[in-house]
Amino acid sequence: MPSLPMSPQVFAILTALIEQRAGLHYAAEDRELLSDKVSDRAQEAGFDSLLDYYYFLRYDPAGSAALDSLVDSLLVHETYFFREAQPLSVLVEDVLLPRVRAGQKPRVWCAACSTGEEPLTLAMMLADRGVLSGVELLASDLSTRALERARTGEHNLRSMRALPPGVEGRWLEQVDGRARPKQELVDAVEWRRINLVDEGAVAKLGQFDAILCRNVLIYFQDETARRVVASLTQALKPGGQLVVGTSESLLRFGTALSCEERRGVFFYGKAGA
Ligand SMILES: C[S@@+](CC[C@H](N)C(=O)[O-])C[C@H]1O[C@@H](n2cnc3c(N)ncnc32)[C@H](O)[C@@H]1O
Repeated sequence: MPSLPMSPQVFAILTALIEQRAGLHYAAEDRELLSDKVSDRAQEAGFDSLLDYYYFLRYDPAGSAALDSLVDSLLVHETYFFREAQPLSVLVEDVLLPRVRAGQKPRVWCAACSTGEEPLTLAMMLADRGVLSGVELLASDLSTRALERARTGEHNLRSMRALPPGVEGRWLEQVDGRARPKQELVDAVEWRRINLVDEGAVAKLGQFDAILCRNVLIYFQDETARRVVASLTQALKPGGQLVVGTSESLLRFGTALSCEERRGVFFYGKAGA
């Protein structure tokens, strides 16, 4: 089916609606790409005008669920096991292990976990050191589809592309063309749907010793990223650490956290311990 035309005006109101719901920002040059994706959805739902589809999303009682489903189809879930692994291993060695040894049960939140490879990598590292049950792991994403794959342990074989030796066989297996983590790893993680731009939902989670929020702030405009970082900062315990992607920096947002270098990786620490 040919795409429905998307005028600059409809592009503006539709992208504002998407940004308000999920933080995702679209620039003018994304119009054609977005128009193709939204057209498919609109035509499946029986609309032949994107303006009418916008009114449906915005005002119809069924629109909110349809907007969530549209947003889900727009999200980028790229992730893989042991992606940017050095910060995870420094987090385990320098932050989590000392707290476990001091008799605490540190809480860690992977705040945009996609299909779960990042928290599962952390779980493997903790299990290798015999402390998996000593750490509380929460992993969340906005996407119900991605979370469903995380919960059922269904991963693309491509997610195994950066495995260090010894992981396959011990923690992961190839079954029917899929990468399957050991069930005990999947069970060690609490999986939740959390929208990072929903400050109220974030505040309800309590406070964490460490929060991973990697490779997601890039989809937000600065003002949205600043708000998300502020609510993540609230969700850190004093002395807690925020970890962002290796190519990301919080410094331009004027964060209250202080950037600390530990063995070649950067963490953002909250004052006081
Ligand atoms: C590229 S993946 C990053 C996954 C993982 N953190 C990593 O670094 O490999 C980005 C994830 O952010 C999620 N995401 C985007 N906007 C979000 C929002 N407003 N709230 C929660 N998650 C969101 C997407 O669904 C996607 O799974």
